[in-house]
Amino acid sequence: MTESTATIHVGDKTVEVPVKHGTVGPSVIDIGKLYAKTGLFTYDPGFTSTASTESEITYIDGDKGVLLYRGYPIDELAEHGDFLETCYLLLYGDLPTAAQKAEFDYRVTRHTMVHEQMTRFFNGFRRDAHPMSIMVACVGALAAFYHDSIDINDPLQRQIASIRMIAKMPTIAAMAYKYSIGQPFVYPKNDLDYCSNFLRMCFSVPAEEYKVNPVLARALDRIFVLHADHEQNASTSTVRLAGSSGANPFGCIAAGIACLWGPAHGGANEAALKMLGEIGTVENIPKYVARAKDKNDPFRLMGFGHRVYKNYDPRAKIMAKTAHEVLSELGVKDDPLLEVAVELERIALSDDYFIEKKLYPNIDFYSGITLKAMGFPVSMFTVLFAVARTVGWIAQWKEMIDDPEQKIGRPRQLYTGAPFREYKPVGTR
Ligand code: CMC
Repeated sequence: MTESTATIHVGDKTVEVPVKHGTVGPSVIDIGKLYAKTGLFTYDPGFTSTASTESEITYIDGDKGVLLYRGYPIDELAEHGDFLETCYLLLYGDLPTAAQKAEFDYRVTRHTMVHEQMTRFFNGFRRDAHPMSIMVACVGALAAFYHDSIDINDPLQRQIASIRMIAKMPTIAAMAYKYSIGQPFVYPKNDLDYCSNFLRMCFSVPAEEYKVNPVLARALDRIFVLHADHEQNASTSTVRLAGSSGANPFGCIAAGIACLWGPAHGGANEAALKMLGEIGTVENIPKYVARAKDKNDPFRLMGFGHRVYKNYDPRAKIMAKTAHEVLSELGVKDDPLLEVAVELERIALSDDYFIEKKLYPNIDFYSGITLKAMGFPVSMFTVLFAVARTVGWIAQWKEMIDDPEQKIGRPRQLYTGAPFREYKPVGTR
């Protein structure tokens, strides 16, 4: 990282502050000493101009529509690699050799079972509990089951906790689904790959043989690669902030899951699917496009636009291709939702309103259609996102713990409440 300086004038004070330059992307003004030198804080709700950390993991160029994991373009990883290879890359910084990959896959596979006592834990939930609430609780509870991997100061324990979470997340997610539909839990089967195993745990029943469809397993694997990390988004920042206090890794990831559950973050694919259903037919599209453009109508095209991407979301392209592959494999011909999606995308991308505002389809536009076709209920969409994002959260958490300059995250504030009030005893108020 190279440095230069910037000069900030505040009243009669002039302060020289370092400007840090990364490898690519915008540089940052390091204002760490600003308060000490001027008595002023900076103010940036929503972190729209604030970098919260240095990181070597993921890079996004929103204007060009680029997403890189450790320098590798997302489309190449999704096309040619697999999810566990991406996990290795995010966690350790480089693509594995064949031997490293085999060893990593083996380690993850050997940790897929959860403590049998956890099945009792599930029984405490109502059957209609949202699977995300079960995920938050069960992942947080892993700290109570795996005491031997919660010492964050021990690199080996950090390592084991990381592998455990990547391995057990699909098992817990599938258990949450099975519980909600009143079917018995399906134990993991270690001769299957990560996504085949997950599909089997979700969709097989003891009464009949289950044959994994390799096209669906490959599609799910690609969806997991696309969702594995996304820089300092809300849930990742939540994990980092929780971890900055020295909290145990399972608790930190549970905090990330809770944040992801919010509709502004992980829930948009559900909203996009609902909207496509509401539009219903291609003939209705112009009406909805007109509503999206109407300033007096709060309606927005769900699955369109992004805070960072001001170009086609690179994940959306792969997601669109995957949607077509899954629907064709399942023999879904003329799916009305897909038909509406394709035509809506075409119309919106040639409309001046969307062109001028740089509104392109995002990853959520096609993911709901795909997951629904695969047999997942809407309530599981965000759960699948959490399964995939776990590795990103862990990689970012590990990076933070390894950083020698790491300290507890403690934002400041602009206080706007009462300045000083004299306390009056209750009888005198
Ligand atoms: N449909 C119609 N108009 C839109 C849309 C949309 N989907 N998105 C933004 N606009 C307009 C908005 O009205 C505003 O217009 P004006 O400048 O005239 O007031 C302008 O575009 C900028 O919008 P903004 O809300 O200031 O932009 P933002 O960066 O704060 O919002 C967003 C980004 C994703 C919240 C927004 O585009 C949106 O609400 N999209 C629909 C929901 C959605 O698909 N969310 C999933 C995001 S991807 C999730 C992930 O990466 O994990």
